[in-house]
Amino acid sequence: MALVIISNKGNEQVWREQLIKLYPGLDVRIYPDDGKKEDIEFALAWNPPKGVFTSYPNLKCIASTGAGVDHIIKDASIPEDVKISRVIDQRLTKDMTAYILTYILAFMRSSAKYKNQQDRGYWQRYQYRVPESTRIGIMGMGELGRHLAQKLLTLGFPVAGWARSPKANLNVQIYTGEDQFKEFLRDVKILVCLLPLTEETRDILSKNTFNQLSEGAYLINVARGEHLVEKDLLEALEQGQLAGACLDVFRTEPLPADHPFWANEKITITPHVASITSVQNVAPQILENYRRMLAGQPLLNEVSRDRGY
Ligand code: NDP
Ligand code: OXD
Repeated sequence: MALVIISNKGNEQVWREQLIKLYPGLDVRIYPDDGKKEDIEFALAWNPPKGVFTSYPNLKCIASTGAGVDHIIKDASIPEDVKISRVIDQRLTKDMTAYILTYILAFMRSSAKYKNQQDRGYWQRYQYRVPESTRIGIMGMGELGRHLAQKLLTLGFPVAGWARSPKANLNVQIYTGEDQFKEFLRDVKILVCLLPLTEETRDILSKNTFNQLSEGAYLINVARGEHLVEKDLLEALEQGQLAGACLDVFRTEPLPADHPFWANEKITITPHVASITSVQNVAPQILENYRRMLAGQPLLNEVSRDRGY
């Protein structure tokens, strides 16, 4: 019985050491030098190569090292009885909220414009925005969206949330499904995307969406690059329908050197760092799932393969 780590993040040894520290004697291998494939029952994965899981005949579970599972689920060759889990972790959730608050406030206070002016030694004042008149729309009211919404409420922002199903006791107006999408977007001044990537949500940050927002709105995409129609963003920025965008995720990562986003002064780029899984924090839940797999018990944070998240 063994666990294999299949990742392109470069921290495979760190994972291995932490897992063995907490579970001495556990047979942890690192792909591709992972020995006899028959031994492997559990995989810990980030961006695994397509088709890789078919080579492990006794595989039972795949755990994502992050909150998203799109990078695993997109591989149609994974046998149906293999279970997939994801990370839910307070540190990850809090760090995401901190990132988004940083860029909401930076936009409201014209931070990028002032940096640009400072570089040129130029003095010009702008009226700043205040929370009470800055409606924030959160696409995705899951683990991350709900935490963000609560923090925004305490700061005095009007908040609207969009999800597939209704949510109770959040003190936030929730809109559901395609029917209510347009209504959700109305008057939104800052739109935050925290959706999982699925067939329904791919390309959702498009011209049609931007056109429903308050003119001069701001976009924050921390979910996945494939949510965004890139040419629609560039057009909306050019036309002023959007005043700016903060992007942490991209269709191609790293973002290619010749990509037009780099040179666009209305776009703030970060290299997929909005919230980074802490190996120390998350290793215990991975091991708990390893034990559950051995005992034939339901996994923690298992995703629905039908829903795609
Ligand atoms: P959850 O699964 O907890 O929440 C997903 C939310 O999206 C739910 O509210 C769900 O609705 C809603 N949703 C899904 N599909 C639709 C749809 N078709 N229409 C409307 N709403 C929909 O995910 P998390 O909050 O944990 O994470 C969200 C994403 O954030 C991850 O999938 C990942 O891609 C990204 N992420 C990015 C990071 C970064 O560093 N940039 C770090 C961590 C995560 P319902 O509640 O009704 O099911
Ligand atoms: C995640 C991510 O899904 O880092 O956790 O994007």
